[in-house]
Amino acid sequence: MRRVGIIGASYTKFGERFDVNMQELAWEAFSDAIKEANIEKDAIDYFVLSNMGGWSSESLPAVIVSEGLGINPKGSVRVEAACASGSSAVKLAHDIVASGQANVVLALGIEKMRESPTKTVVEYIGRAGNFMWEFENFGLTFPGYYALYATAYMSKYSVKEEDLCEVAVKNHYYGSFNEKAQFRNKITVEKCMSSPYVAWPLKLYDCSPITDGAAAVLIASEDFIKEHKSETAWISGIGYATGTANLSKRDDFTGLEAAKRAALQAYARAGLDPEKPASQLDLAEVHDCFTIAEVMAYEDLGFAKKGEGIKLVKEKQTYKGGLIPVNLDGGLKAKGHPIGATGESMIAELYHQLLGKVKGERQTDIKKGRALAHNVGGTGHYAYVTVLSLEKGGVA
Ligand code: COA
Repeated sequence: MRRVGIIGASYTKFGERFDVNMQELAWEAFSDAIKEANIEKDAIDYFVLSNMGGWSSESLPAVIVSEGLGINPKGSVRVEAACASGSSAVKLAHDIVASGQANVVLALGIEKMRESPTKTVVEYIGRAGNFMWEFENFGLTFPGYYALYATAYMSKYSVKEEDLCEVAVKNHYYGSFNEKAQFRNKITVEKCMSSPYVAWPLKLYDCSPITDGAAAVLIASEDFIKEHKSETAWISGIGYATGTANLSKRDDFTGLEAAKRAALQAYARAGLDPEKPASQLDLAEVHDCFTIAEVMAYEDLGFAKKGEGIKLVKEKQTYKGGLIPVNLDGGLKAKGHPIGATGESMIAELYHQLLGKVKGERQTDIKKGRALAHNVGGTGHYAYVTVLSLEKGGVA
């Protein structure tokens, strides 16, 4: 396997993007990424598009987007792993380059969700679970799925709704500094607590929103990187796992088994000590589709012991300057969650953070040269953990 690095990345303004069509939105992310990589379009050998679709009228988005970007790759494909689609695109792009089949691959994620009414979107997202069984028979929506986890977690570890709101407060705080975030308002625990219930105990401010957006990551081989002297963050470890389709087959509702397995794989590949991963990373992006999901992520990733995740955010250990800053872009909660693009947007954020290119308040100190993205599809139906590093190393 060849070493593989990221040479350019970007994401668009997230939110309601009625001003652009799918091709134009993709172009916004792509044009910034290729400018940053300082390469010609012709260098792109292969194109991987992540997109859950369904609400979009395009059923062959890879070729439509490819044509809109004016690229002419030897091949293209659309991938889908629910909300982890973006990380699955990065993984596929990585593997194609690592195996020597291509030198440069574009992984681009896109979703235009806001053209459909909320109830259509909620129903469609429900299909990312075991739709026919759980949604049709029991009416379980995505906020409902994560509410099951929240109630189990709150009951087992004596956690209150106010505690979960602390995650939303942090992510809205950092979102306020991100000009590309869907929400830029700072909030308080009181504001979160007084927002309406979506699925008890989760309220509006515990939920990520419905979002339009695109994100692009350019991935290249070591030889190409050397020749072009590209500014690089290396992909040093990717872990991936799948969980049960049917939630009734799960033993535990206080963590995501697939995420734990993906993390251990990624740590082994990147050469990180699984006993103390947080102390070896400068920052992390975690999948906070709901506030409870961020708390479980801290534990599944080994940043905190079981039942102690909530302490990390309450003690500001996941703010800048703490043990491990998490979601300095505002996370899914405030930056937004355009399903197919979320994974690439996490990787783009980490790439810029590692290279010290994030403007203003959000840039964190880079001392260890490593960062991690945790991206979950469904309710742990898919999980991807990707470790980036400034030094070459690992066996991704
Ligand atoms: N957090 C904070 N504010 C939100 C919000 C969120 N998640 N979602 C919407 N809002 C705000 C809007 O900005 C708007 O404010 P305004 O009235 O001041 O303009 C207001 O709430 C209503 O917005 P609207 O777009 O009509 O929201 P909605 O009621 O149609 O949808 C949810 C709200 C929570 C149902 C929807 O965002 C949702 O389903 N989120 C979960 C998405 C999901 O499951 N993703 C997959 C996760 S794995």
